[in-house]
Amino acid sequence: MIYLDNSATTRPHPQVIETVRRAMESYYGNPSSLHHKGAEAENVLKQARKVAAQYLGCKEGEIIFTSGGTESNNTAIKGIAFQYQNRGKHIITTQVEHPAVYDVCKQLEILGFTTTYLPVDKDGRVSVEDVKAAIRPDTILVSIMHVNNELGTIQPIEEIGQWLKQFPKVLFHVDAVQSIGKIPLRIKDSGIDLMSVSAHKFYGPRGTGILYKREGLIIHPLMMGGGQEAGVRSGTENLPAIAGMAKAFRILEEFGSVESIRLQGLNQQLREGIAQIEGCIINTPETGAAPHIMNLSVPGVKAEVLLHALEERGFLISTKSACSSKVNEPSRVLTAIGIQRDCALSSLRVSLGRENTAEDIKQFVSALGECVIQLRSYMK
Ligand SMILES: Cc1ncc(COP(=O)(O)O)c(C=O)c1O
Repeated sequence: MIYLDNSATTRPHPQVIETVRRAMESYYGNPSSLHHKGAEAENVLKQARKVAAQYLGCKEGEIIFTSGGTESNNTAIKGIAFQYQNRGKHIITTQVEHPAVYDVCKQLEILGFTTTYLPVDKDGRVSVEDVKAAIRPDTILVSIMHVNNELGTIQPIEEIGQWLKQFPKVLFHVDAVQSIGKIPLRIKDSGIDLMSVSAHKFYGPRGTGILYKREGLIIHPLMMGGGQEAGVRSGTENLPAIAGMAKAFRILEEFGSVESIRLQGLNQQLREGIAQIEGCIINTPETGAAPHIMNLSVPGVKAEVLLHALEERGFLISTKSACSSKVNEPSRVLTAIGIQRDCALSSLRVSLGRENTAEDIKQFVSALGECVIQLRSYMK
């Protein structure tokens, strides 16, 4: 099997698995307990916070451990909405956000908030001018993703954040779930108040992540209880997974930039290969996109049929994003970039990771070519 679904989740690095195993075995104390087993666990947590803060370029006190990207996004958006609703109830986001942002905004609309969903261009990119034009006196939050999970498009986060600095009461949240380890982002230079991270997208364990929260920023906690994570996220911390995430950060620190360059090479090889296949359309823009995501369509061929034909040949990929791939509707993201319905319904996402090689890409392109010829011949 050749795994090409790394945007859905990555296979944990063997060193991450070993770290999780050791943490479960040895550091089973509750970090809040006062005895030495508790202190040991608290120390592991402290170390993990330090490693994460160093990688992200922030202070240790700005790291809140969560259960992943979905929780981080919910905590950030609802936390701001509930805390600052007396200032205003207007939120700005885009039409191409992950459901963990988009559907949260929809949910807040039921509670009386209003949301502006900014359009994107044919590459899936939001315009800074549109963000500027959307700001209103009652705007409390702008939430924009860094890298789009279906197309790979990179949003102009630094430019937007710099401009938003003149509105200190408008908070800026960034969903960086798909960009960590792929596209660098300087939190402090980009005017970011809150940022979501998920460990399983960079070879860490599932069910753990981070919400970066700027020092001094108060948000309404979603979870009440024991007051862990500075009272923002109550609940006993998932220590083994957090330790595993710290290991994944350390590995990124050491090999991340070399890996990113290697992925760019594979991406180019994949793009050139797909471009040779008659009937294939590449939806991911050639420039300004992350190196690990490639979205393509084969109009007239149902995405699911092609996906299973490729699976039979040993290749694992996705239709749309894994979270919404069971719904037989054209992707909201592809619709937003103006792709026709039949093209959107035939779209597939190939996503690369550290285990993929040039040989994998060669074999995949050849299998894709064969499947397309075969499936298109049935249509005639
Ligand atoms: C852009 C983006 N945001 C949020 C999430 C949700 O993250 P998690 O799976 O950790 O809840 C995903 C997962 O695919 C994603 O791609």
